Amino acid sequence: MLHIAVFGSGKGSNFGAILEAMKVGKITGATIRLVLSNNSRAGILDIARVNDIPAVHVSERQFSDYGEFARGLLRILAEHGVNFIVLAGYMKKVPGEIVAAFRGRILNIHPALLPKFGGEGMYGMRVHEAVIAAGEKESGATVHRVEEEYDRGPIVAQRLVPVYPGDTPESLAARVLRIEHELYPEAIGMIAAGTLPTE
Ligand code: GRF
Repeated sequence: MLHIAVFGSGKGSNFGAILEAMKVGKITGATIRLVLSNNSRAGILDIARVNDIPAVHVSERQFSDYGEFARGLLRILAEHGVNFIVLAGYMKKVPGEIVAAFRGRILNIHPALLPKFGGEGMYGMRVHEAVIAAGEKESGATVHRVEEEYDRGPIVAQRLVPVYPGDTPESLAARVLRIEHELYPEAIGMIAAGTLPTE
């Protein structure tokens, strides 16, 4: 059984899609134990509260130093019985201690076809601007396991979308986000069902 903590910083549409997939039985063998955000006003926390899922605001600024922050995060995850982490629009780096403690058991979704258009600074609209500037004919979404380095862990699932000549970063972002909402629940569902390895 996956006992999942979802980390996010923004509106939480991917989390919403995952929750919906659980409600309709497309994901079985998994529960959401906790939603955690570095941003106290993030929509993802509101979605959790409406669904009676524990929602916590945890920021590095609440701790005396980075080590305390990492240990605090580990403590919170243990208190909620978490054994798997899903990053859904989390804009902060996951501390190395967490990556080590949950080796292979942290997923992220990236709005491009990794290994292209990933790495530090490649987030939000910048990704889609870079894809269009490079003249790519295709983009997409990638679900991967999280390692210490940004966007570099093993790829779990990937889906393509076309890039059209008239695309703006916004129109491309919307097309990619729609397939993220399919791909992420599918990937989590396969891991929860044992079709893909947990780690
Ligand atoms: C998505 O585009 C995801 O790929 C990226 O951040 C965005 C999150 O959106 N990592 P939301 O908060 O799930 O709506």
